Amino acid sequence: MNNVETTKDWWKEEVIYQVYPKSFNDSNDDGIGDLQGIREKLPYLKDLGITTLWICPIFTSPMVDNGYDIADFEGIDPQFGTMADFDELLADANQLGIKILLDLVINHTSDEHQWFQEALKDKHSKYRDYYIFKEGKERPNNWRSIFGGSVWEKVPGEDCYYLHVFDKRQPDLNWENPELRQEIYAMINRWLDKGIAGFRIDSITFIKKDQDYASLPADGVDGLVSCKHKTRNRPGIEIFLNELKRETFEKYNCVTVGEAPGVPYDEFSQFIGEDGYFSMIFDFHYADIDVESGSDWFKRTNWTTKEFKELLINSQEALQAAGWGANFIENHDQPRALSKLVKEGFQTAEAAAGIGVMYFFLRGTPFIYQGQELGMVNAQREQISQFDDISSIDNYHRSIQEGFSPEEAMNFVNLRSRDNSRTPMPWNNQQFGGFSKVAPWLEMTEEYPRVHASENSVLDMYKQMIALRQHSAISPILKTGSIRFLTDLPDNVLGYARELENDTVYVLTNLSPEEEAVTLADEIGEIYLNTHAINEPAGKEFTLLPYQSVLFN
Ligand code: GLC
Ligand code: CA
Repeated sequence: MNNVETTKDWWKEEVIYQVYPKSFNDSNDDGIGDLQGIREKLPYLKDLGITTLWICPIFTSPMVDNGYDIADFEGIDPQFGTMADFDELLADANQLGIKILLDLVINHTSDEHQWFQEALKDKHSKYRDYYIFKEGKERPNNWRSIFGGSVWEKVPGEDCYYLHVFDKRQPDLNWENPELRQEIYAMINRWLDKGIAGFRIDSITFIKKDQDYASLPADGVDGLVSCKHKTRNRPGIEIFLNELKRETFEKYNCVTVGEAPGVPYDEFSQFIGEDGYFSMIFDFHYADIDVESGSDWFKRTNWTTKEFKELLINSQEALQAAGWGANFIENHDQPRALSKLVKEGFQTAEAAAGIGVMYFFLRGTPFIYQGQELGMVNAQREQISQFDDISSIDNYHRSIQEGFSPEEAMNFVNLRSRDNSRTPMPWNNQQFGGFSKVAPWLEMTEEYPRVHASENSVLDMYKQMIALRQHSAISPILKTGSIRFLTDLPDNVLGYARELENDTVYVLTNLSPEEEAVTLADEIGEIYLNTHAINEPAGKEFTLLPYQSVLFN
């Protein structure tokens, strides 16, 4: 390995940038982003100041779920380029001091994976047991998949069904099979031997299924029940996760970032404690504040900023008690943060910077999703045919099935669609935002002539945020200091102190569209960042403008 840092916890010092390869930059003008496109933009990323890139799946795939359906774990999808392109990208990135994380999708494969094809062809093949097949004329139970419909799909020509927690073209792997597990570990180690810095690990809390495969009472008019009660973070998963770590990650000084929905706070230490399964995990408890569950978009909540603040504080306190967190406000499954967290009419560049500062200096490793640093907003679409994302299409139909009108269904999908964050990156105000010379695979967000990377005040603020965390007199506090939340603030104002030995820096954010008066115990000292230049707080008593953030001591 050529890029491994010497300290055990080197990943606490990183700023990680997430690339969605289909939508980042198209180097050969076929309308689809690719590896050479990412390579062309390394100078942009270096200038931004990030230190690690997480690239969403680039492996051979029919792209039913845009690469989260892998047909060959060790092949590069031709849309994205070749293994030689990947090697060049890795070498150039490392040259610039940028590490690379890949996406590890090991809960399921594509139905086009050779293992699954063999399993379908011959029921006596050993590959049948690499997946979860159940014999019978009827579906074995009433579990609903995350992307809608039953988790069971019939095998053509047989009285037999296979299980898929996500799309029917993403059959779940059978982690109960030791031989399958060994094949996965060997694959992981080959990638780590190549010199990548680690992995973001997809849907990892789904690998253990309750072996009774029992039905539960329905929770929808379709007569089905969300499969997560029986397939997510179930007892016994600790055996698989410990083995996974022991056979792979532990042998390398790599970083592992678990996508671990469904883990209660009192189990965080098993996941991210001293001997935890992963370096860090994403916590979704406040990311999904606008919906009752990340997969039922028609169950919207009327959340308040006070609730958001409480969820965020609980999350940070649980992460701090157990280990280390992966902090984010956007990713390829979430709507744009500016649209979700900031009220309509207030979605300005300053507000984008305000919510950026709010999360960026929390204790943990900050993740930035492509375009977040530009202050992008959700796309507005009128017809379901304009969507690519399978879960948007499913949610549209399920909303109608649950009794909502087509207009209401479209509204739910516009608010939550995963396509909101998957629109092509606008590099400039030219046609197709300089992403490609031809119409891209997914429509641009319509505001790109105004919001793009060639001139952008949100981007300038992100550069300052990164520089402060990485290379300033207060970096040690911002990177490793503990976090303490301030009390005695208005409900709408979030405040925290980062503390290291005798040094403290503070962050205050007004999470609301109202002005908020704040009274501090001590006078503000030096201001390091202020997202609203027209209003410079001073003294002990001052007013914060809507969505204003300040970082000071
Ligand atoms: C994760 C990914 C998501 C994908 C799903 C199935 O949640 O982030 O994009 O659709 O897993 O792999
Ligand atoms: Ca391309």
